[in-house]
Amino acid sequence: MKFLKFSKNEEYDVKVYFVEKDASLDFLAEEVREYAKETGFDGSYKKTFKHIGPGTSNVILVGMGEEEEIGRQKFRNAGFVASKFLNKNKFKSATFNIGKVNDVPEYSALQCTAEGIYQASYSFDEYKTEKCENSLEKISFETEEEIEPLMEYVDNIVEGVFITRDLVNTPSIDMYPEILAQKAVNILEPLGIKVTVYGEKELEEMGMTAILAVGQGSDRESKFVVMEYLPQGEDVEAIALVGKGMCYDSGGYAIKPPASMASMKTDMAGAGTVIGAMSAIAKNKLDANVVGVMALTENMIDGSAYKNGDIVKTKKGTTIEVLNTDAEGRVTLADSLYYAATQVNSKCIIDLATLTGACIVALGAYTTGAITNNDELFEEVKTAGDFSGEYTWKLPQNEHLRDNVKGQNADLTNSVSKGGGGAITAGIFLEHFVEDKPWVHLDIAGPSWADSAYGYQPNGATGIPVKTIHNFVANQAKK
Ligand code: BES
Ligand code: ZN
Ligand code: ZN
Repeated sequence: MKFLKFSKNEEYDVKVYFVEKDASLDFLAEEVREYAKETGFDGSYKKTFKHIGPGTSNVILVGMGEEEEIGRQKFRNAGFVASKFLNKNKFKSATFNIGKVNDVPEYSALQCTAEGIYQASYSFDEYKTEKCENSLEKISFETEEEIEPLMEYVDNIVEGVFITRDLVNTPSIDMYPEILAQKAVNILEPLGIKVTVYGEKELEEMGMTAILAVGQGSDRESKFVVMEYLPQGEDVEAIALVGKGMCYDSGGYAIKPPASMASMKTDMAGAGTVIGAMSAIAKNKLDANVVGVMALTENMIDGSAYKNGDIVKTKKGTTIEVLNTDAEGRVTLADSLYYAATQVNSKCIIDLATLTGACIVALGAYTTGAITNNDELFEEVKTAGDFSGEYTWKLPQNEHLRDNVKGQNADLTNSVSKGGGGAITAGIFLEHFVEDKPWVHLDIAGPSWADSAYGYQPNGATGIPVKTIHNFVANQAKK
């Protein structure tokens, strides 16, 4: 990631103004003001005006809409729109005047703007011959706030988001369990996080038989990774983050059709989010213990693979009738969650998983679906998400759906044939393994990935919900 140099009250190449609807524009020279009005620029949201060229002062106006509707997300979008244009036109520096902030504190509006500016610089070009070069190097804000600490905080969050995007975008030929585990070590250990990687032999000794069952059809060894960030010392209970780390999901014997399989390198987005979020948390030195847990596996087809109809035993002892090898995430999460509940000194558990296509059907591709056993904890996660511009919705945990996860020949089944609500039954299944610890399950199958770019999100991995997790932990640290 190329970091920007932020300062305040410097005159740079281009002046960017965020302006509310029907603003007077009296800060512009008269001819520029008249020209802006002629082009129809009136400060409406999503309208922009650019006046660039030799012999003139370079000006960009970004419409923010009605003053009373200005909020954090609009600053992110405005920063993004301006910076896309600046990079495209090879400008190296710009001065931003972010205008009216409504009820957003100014420091927060500045941070959101900076985040939007960064968002415009991301591209995944690792595998392209031609690399994307961003010209922007220096940004100045017109403000009296102290810029440096504010921007360092944003740098660390955005870096976390980009780490997650890179991990998720990398194809599984280069991002299998061993590599992803090594990435966790390389990224997090220098930040003072203890990373322990267990192999299959150790998983056997630990009784993590459900994880092993899912991974047994792959030539790549399954790994189990525990990441401990303990600034409060070992005795203080930690927030446990559990990520689904399916480095590839072919569906197994319940093989996916090619179109749905093509994007299944992204089935480790939960694990990727845990790594990116923990990087941001540690770099911002948040004062809260956090322990990340992830099972890294591949769901493949082979003579030794688990099959539809198999019954698999979990670390907890609960048995699972695998009616569908493509519902593999909940099988690995069963052991990961039970580990987080019983082997980690945890006060609450948040799991992140690209768990079901059904969640995308239910909520659309832009919203995370949640299942919880603790509404208070859920509200705290949702609040952190809303603040971050990443949206979460709680799914209804109907009691009849609860009955449907019971197995015929085993304690539970991983594939429920009646009642619909596939995103809900998946979450309800997971609840069996959290041992009554306060827990929120986040199904990120939709928002962790974008088929095409939207807002300030690029196509491909979005890094959602890294910011939600970081900001949730930041709020806990303040308590
Ligand atoms: N990894 C998929 C879920 C998924 C779908 C993630 C689309 C991202 C985008 C998961 O393992 C899966 O295949 N789930 C099945 C569950 C079903 C077999 C009960 C699904 O959603 O169809
Ligand atoms: Zn699957
Ligand atoms: Zn999967």
